[in-house]
Amino acid sequence: MDGGTLLAVRGLVVSFQRDRDGPVSRALRGVDLSVEASEIHGLVGESGCGKTVTSTAIIGLLPAPPARIEAGSIVFEGRDLLGLSAEERRKVRGRQIAMVFQEPARYLNPSLRVGAQITEMLRLHLRMGRQEAEARAAELAGLVGLGGARRVLQTYPHELSGGMKQRAMIAMAISCNPRLLIADEPTTALDVTLQLQILRLIVRLREAFRMGILFISHDLRLVRTVADRVTVMYAGRAVETTSARDLYRGALHPYTRLLLASIPAAQKRGTRLKVIPGRVPDAQAIPAGCAFHPRCPLAEDRCRVDMPESREHAPGHAASCHFVGKPWPD
Ligand SMILES: Nc1ncnc2c1ncn2[C@@H]1O[C@H](COP(=O)(O)OP(=O)(O)OP(=O)(O)O)[C@@H](O)[C@H]1O
Ligand SMILES: [Mg+2]
Repeated sequence: MDGGTLLAVRGLVVSFQRDRDGPVSRALRGVDLSVEASEIHGLVGESGCGKTVTSTAIIGLLPAPPARIEAGSIVFEGRDLLGLSAEERRKVRGRQIAMVFQEPARYLNPSLRVGAQITEMLRLHLRMGRQEAEARAAELAGLVGLGGARRVLQTYPHELSGGMKQRAMIAMAISCNPRLLIADEPTTALDVTLQLQILRLIVRLREAFRMGILFISHDLRLVRTVADRVTVMYAGRAVETTSARDLYRGALHPYTRLLLASIPAAQKRGTRLKVIPGRVPDAQAIPAGCAFHPRCPLAEDRCRVDMPESREHAPGHAASCHFVGKPWPD
């Protein structure tokens, strides 16, 4: 790793309110997260815990309204993005921070050839001339493994398979050499073989472009294979952050431990995936105290009233739980 901290999200609070008198759902309740330059940082947690809201806030695409950023900062390369004008924000997006999504089809323009979409990015953000942009687009298509790159550039998105679409979107995302790439469940819609190919591609691109990557997934197994560090989210907060190695050797938060235990060890066919009893609370009704207490085997009275702050238990290993180290029940 080199270059220090690329992105530091501190105390980010985001709420959604559809109508003026309607209920408020607090999707993020003080998220802390940092990505070092050229690291792959995994962001994990069950569905609804706030991974996508966090990433859309970082890239500046939260729909506001209904979303509202109530508190916090998003410091990217030393600047708080929340203080920038819409115009400045737009310049950062695509150029310095880029994003790939779970469903590329929704974000590719269906009426524009793939090549034209990439060259448009290059012309807009990097002010390249047509010929230079076309040459670079072909180079990028080759880099992301779009075989027969020049031919693929002439196709429309709907002519591509799921894996090819994802590669095309990755080519667009990296076209301007961003410092940070956010990948939100980039492989969830793909079959296992394609998943591995796209993961390998992401790892390779990190090497080639020396960019930081925020890799979002609800699948700890995937995160284990790619990430350097990991942040685990629960109910709109980061509950544990550590190196990927320490996560698997010595997770501290009961939620993380249960997530790890729910990964089937040998993936034997027919074995049932253990799931954590209970469910992620609705953002309109977050339990008092530690939001995880209704599902936690270690919970005591204190957990029902007192929200645990994040504490560093070892260098680079933080967790927010009152009872880190308490023996686990059988
Ligand atoms: N546009 C919206 N309007 C209202 N609530 C929203 C909106 N987008 C997200 N939320 C709420 O914010 C919370 C976090 O959602 P988010 O999409 O970030 O979860 P996630 O961790 O990305 O889940 P998944 O793994 O399913 O993608 C949820 O409670 C969700 O209902
Ligand atoms: Mg999501």
